[in-house]
Amino acid sequence: MSATTLNDFQSSAAELEHAASAAFSAADSADALEKARAEFLGRTSGRLLGLQRLVPSFEGPERGVAGRAFNELKKTLEGRLEARRTELESHARSAAPRTDLTMPSRRQFRGAEHPVTLVIEEIIEIFRGIGFTVATGPEAETEWYNFTALNFPPDHPAMDMHDTMYLADDVVLRTHTSPVQVRSLQAGPPPIRVVIPGNVYRLDPFDASHAPMFSQIEGLAVDDGISFVDLKATLTHFAQRFFGATRTRFRPSYFPFTEPSAEMDVECRLCKGTGCPACKGTGWMEILGAGMVHPNVLDAAGVDSERYTGWAFGMGPGRMAIQRYGIPDIRLLYDSDVRFLERVAR
Ligand code: PHE
Repeated sequence: MSATTLNDFQSSAAELEHAASAAFSAADSADALEKARAEFLGRTSGRLLGLQRLVPSFEGPERGVAGRAFNELKKTLEGRLEARRTELESHARSAAPRTDLTMPSRRQFRGAEHPVTLVIEEIIEIFRGIGFTVATGPEAETEWYNFTALNFPPDHPAMDMHDTMYLADDVVLRTHTSPVQVRSLQAGPPPIRVVIPGNVYRLDPFDASHAPMFSQIEGLAVDDGISFVDLKATLTHFAQRFFGATRTRFRPSYFPFTEPSAEMDVECRLCKGTGCPACKGTGWMEILGAGMVHPNVLDAAGVDSERYTGWAFGMGPGRMAIQRYGIPDIRLLYDSDVRFLERVAR
């Protein structure tokens, strides 16, 4: 005799299924679900155990029915439990914050023109305003363009391996932009008025005021009746435009390709002329070399030195950037350190 009828057993099973399903769906965390699992499916005290224990009390075919019903219920509930577990896990994943709001934001680096590029553009603009055009030439030059045509004597110390980078026997990395003077003279009959920006190379150690590669801007004006007065007036005009009202001075100098030759200084902008490390205590900063084009250079380039005269200059945009932006060490210009470049950026 069984204490329960099969009907009662089946309705208890249905009730349990209902209650367990409701408990599983109500569980809103892994912990809550585990509690519900223990309550219904726990191995030692789960509510399903009570039902399982009734199975042997049935006799004959009824026991089979009850057993199968119990097994089915257990499988169903285990399936629901698993489904709910998966559901909760995927909720947990999608609810997890995707962004860590405490993480420092990524810096936006703004592209900026290099200070030397800015200075070169500004110099070109000033000369464009008084009728000059831009010319360029190769960085790998023959000795003839770099030295010989520029009236360097064959044994000039600048041609020494210690100062000049040789690519081949007769080919050098140009040590100045002056070879483009020769190319410009060859290219056209005067009047010639050109500025020539470009990189030049010298075997100098890299220190606070020297670099093995740096930029220059050459200027050349050749025509009938051009004099040193034009040279001085033009370069003074340039310095006024570039530096604002500033004092300039010309000192006699020497270059093989100009005669007479001069160097122009501007009052050091960093110390206002009182003397500082950047101007080596002199209060003046040399910014360019210049002079009247040597007749030998005109002749070498096929321009009639009896008829034409001209002047030329070569200036260092790097040095001028140092003056303009108060840069204490030339190496800062070549390090490509974004923090430095951003500070100078226009
Ligand atoms: N080429 C000279 C230098 O590199 C500069 C210069 C150019 C001087 C033109 C006079 C005339 O120092």
